[in-house]
Amino acid sequence: MKLLEQLPKQIQTLVEQNKNTNTTNFDNMIRSSNYVPHDLELFSDILVALSQGKNVLLKGPTGSGKTKLAETLSSLFNQPLFSVNCSVDLDAESFLGFKTVEYENDKQTIAFVPGPLVQSMEHGHFLYIDEINMAKPETLPLINGALDYRRTVTNPLTNETIHGANGFGVIAAINEGYIGTTRLNEALKNRFVIFDIDYLQGEELKSLIKDQSSLQDTKQIDAFVKLSSDLVKAADQGKIAEDGASIRALLDACDLSSFIPPKRAIKRAITSKLEDEREQVVVANLAETLFE
Ligand SMILES: Nc1ncnc2c1ncn2[C@@H]1O[C@H](COP(=O)(O)OP(=O)(O)OP(=O)(O)O)[C@@H](O)[C@H]1O
Ligand SMILES: [Mg+2]
Repeated sequence: MKLLEQLPKQIQTLVEQNKNTNTTNFDNMIRSSNYVPHDLELFSDILVALSQGKNVLLKGPTGSGKTKLAETLSSLFNQPLFSVNCSVDLDAESFLGFKTVEYENDKQTIAFVPGPLVQSMEHGHFLYIDEINMAKPETLPLINGALDYRRTVTNPLTNETIHGANGFGVIAAINEGYIGTTRLNEALKNRFVIFDIDYLQGEELKSLIKDQSSLQDTKQIDAFVKLSSDLVKAADQGKIAEDGASIRALLDACDLSSFIPPKRAIKRAITSKLEDEREQVVVANLAETLFE
């Protein structure tokens, strides 16, 4: 069954009413994706918040599907998704854009190439800000302005004031606790409705593995689902780092194990990512109990 059809009628109508109906030059940036919600209620709440023009913050560990979720929201609302990755494109220019020199009949002119923030605000589309807690402090006032009820930013490069057009929406993601990230600035956090995204488990995880990995052996899939729940438990108890339970790594292990023995696949895709030798032993022991 389609994702939207699983939700209350009222939510389906709300999404329908807030769908982008303009076709634009950016239609190729409407992402289609196959996010599987771990909690339909939470998923509905995200749809409500976005429909009401709230800024949405997805908080969850690595490989929990935050980026997939943002892409799925882009397709449900038929909204092109512009994106900034704060851990890579750190400065204000990567939000706003940059100036460039152009030549017209030998005449030199300065043109402005708009960045993702400017584009999404002007055209009323979605902006995905990945790892927003890694943004440099000097870019924060800029982001804060765009997230305010005023939805306004002044571009110091052009002195223009940019207003968020109807439909403009912000989805941000953070990976709190991950080494190298800083806690999210309180003023910034305050501007978002926050949603905790957990690792998918149980029956949903089972169908995710079937759909997204090359592993099809039901018995093995069941064992991987059990392994995942054991890894989540071990992470909760502090026995392994949270990333050790990543669904991304689990799917890699499932893919590999359609060709190589599962224990070796787990070693390559999961265990080898853990720095601490004791953590590696924990994972190896769990794998030992579940696979031959
Ligand atoms: N609930 C889910 N639905 C669909 N796919 C998922 C889900 N959870 C994990 N995945 C799969 O796990 C992988 C990682 O997902 P994604 O890149 O969206 O994670 P992320 O939370 O954005 O991670 P990071 O914080 O490292 O950017 C993808 O291959 C995705 O298909
Ligand atoms: Mg991501």
